[in-house]
Amino acid sequence: MLTPQWLDELRARITLSAIVGRTVRLTKAGREYKACCPFHNEKTPSFYVNDEKGFYHCFGCEAHGDAIRWMTDQQGLPFMDAVKELAAEAGMEVPAPDPRAAQQAEKRASLHDVTAAAQAFYVDRLRSADGAAARAYLARRGFAQGVVEAFGFGFAPEDRQAIPRALSQFDEPMLLETGLRIDVEGKEPYDRFRGRLMLPIQDARGRVIGFGGRILDGDSNPNAPKYLNSPDTPLFDKGRTLYNLHRAAPAARKSGRMIVVEGYMDAIALAQAGFEEAVAPLGTALTETQIEMLWRHVERPILCFDGDKAGQKAAMRAVSRALPLLRPAHSLAIVRLPTGLDPDDLLREQGANAMERLLAQPAGLLDTLWDFEKSAAPLDSPEDKAGLKARLLDHVETIQHPDIKALYKRELLERFSAFAFPPKPRREWTPQSFSGGRKAPWQGKAVIPALSQEAKSRLERAISGGARDSFVAAIIAGLARFPDQILRHEEALLGLAASDRNVGPAIDSLIEAAETLDLHGESSISLDNGLPAPPDKTRFAFLDDGTDPVDAREDLAEAVSLLVERPALEAALMAATARFDQDPEGSIAEQASHRERLLALNDRLKRFGRRRAAAAESRN
Ligand code: UTP
Ligand code: MN
Repeated sequence: MLTPQWLDELRARITLSAIVGRTVRLTKAGREYKACCPFHNEKTPSFYVNDEKGFYHCFGCEAHGDAIRWMTDQQGLPFMDAVKELAAEAGMEVPAPDPRAAQQAEKRASLHDVTAAAQAFYVDRLRSADGAAARAYLARRGFAQGVVEAFGFGFAPEDRQAIPRALSQFDEPMLLETGLRIDVEGKEPYDRFRGRLMLPIQDARGRVIGFGGRILDGDSNPNAPKYLNSPDTPLFDKGRTLYNLHRAAPAARKSGRMIVVEGYMDAIALAQAGFEEAVAPLGTALTETQIEMLWRHVERPILCFDGDKAGQKAAMRAVSRALPLLRPAHSLAIVRLPTGLDPDDLLREQGANAMERLLAQPAGLLDTLWDFEKSAAPLDSPEDKAGLKARLLDHVETIQHPDIKALYKRELLERFSAFAFPPKPRREWTPQSFSGGRKAPWQGKAVIPALSQEAKSRLERAISGGARDSFVAAIIAGLARFPDQILRHEEALLGLAASDRNVGPAIDSLIEAAETLDLHGESSISLDNGLPAPPDKTRFAFLDDGTDPVDAREDLAEAVSLLVERPALEAALMAATARFDQDPEGSIAEQASHRERLLALNDRLKRFGRRRAAAAESRN
């Protein structure tokens, strides 16, 4: 049950401005903060946040409330979810709503006593004579005494019954439930960790919830796994825990950075070298939950992976996990370490500066995806190239956020086209090869016998009036003029063909022609011989003979992107509007953002026309 006292405690532990500041740009005003009110539209700030009182107040629209109210009214969370989220933030346990849950919470609390006692025992053993080899191992690895203590290193003696003796105040079921002991049918239960260097695994509040035990070098059993971890228990859930988070989170607040490494020893070595904001998953690939946990602290956690094949695969696994979760201002950055070195090795061999340099320029998520897929398989044949394209699009399909999905799609397809159909600096064939050995010098345009009469008349129809508007007509004329650009925009064009019946056949003809021509980026081939000019040709630099061909192609690319973005945005706006009944607040917010982008887009469209007109005029 949530008591008023508990809720007060929660409010007291939360800094309201930090919560509000995540979505609203606050500026300091004396002892308060002010901002333009997020609850109504205004140009001058009348919204105030007071951390001492824990209230926000708007003098314009009278919006008023505390942190919980903020989460329900502004973030749209149900009350209990708001409380849970704030409690997680404040490091408080939400009181159990029913007696059974209360019992479980109580049990967890006593399980925490078990793990805390075990931790004390292991630390004590490390200091004892038993721990000499483990101490020597730590010294050999170069861990400073302060770090050994701060991270709570311990030692589990080589003894199957040490735990029940040392933790005699707890009964066997509790020792089993915390994973400290193992019970196999027909055998006496025995200690899980024996003869190992011990590391406590702590939750976000710093409570010990499990352990990792490392074998000591020179261990006599070559088959023993290097690390043994606690199993999942009522306290410990591997997929929802990040090693070292309780120390890294406050450090990340200061540095604005969060580093994710693969091993605990790496996190510790980083801390010793001054990088306190490092965490590690627990021997598994990052889970969705862990990614969300990281995002609560920074927008772009930096993941470090080995530069070898396995490391790159692991990086891609993390990327694939993250793609469906991406939303604005939530991403991942990836650092590729020198092959064969983990951060611990790197620090030892090359020092903290080398690490700092790598962290300063991580690759983005999209770059990582692109680099990985591009080098995943050979790309010699058209089938190989199509395979790459399919893989890229498969990734794009997993992205849930519509804007991010569209942006990824565009960027990856552009890279794909530039890569799969690179402009060749020198001509590989000459017009002679088409004109039966005629020796005449190459003169700008050649008539390529690739357009059938039917294709030609489809294009004619599209350009001279069949198209929805002159913008589309101009683009079709532009593509006929620069057919090397057709496949670059294939995806966009297919989308357009599907949505505009009048130009569909023309676009099919263009793509067909582009596929049969061996263009090789040849800059002088054109399909527009004999085609009409679109109505207001002068608006478009890509239809102007005076424009540099390279500029013309970029101009054409911009026009194509404007053309496809508009219907996509219009569709997104309609979808958001249709959602109003289920989710009024979300719907309104989304509508507003789509409207804003539509306005910007139309602006660009208008400017596009004007800029071209001006350019044309200045030349005449
Ligand atoms: P590593 O072998 O890369 O760990 O495994 P490390 O931190 O570099 O170890 P050192 O430097 O040799 O001491 C990375 C992580 O994978 C898990 C552990 O969580 C480890 O931190 N792991 C590894 C296991 O769970 N079991 C194993 O046998 C090995
Ligand atoms: Mn290592």
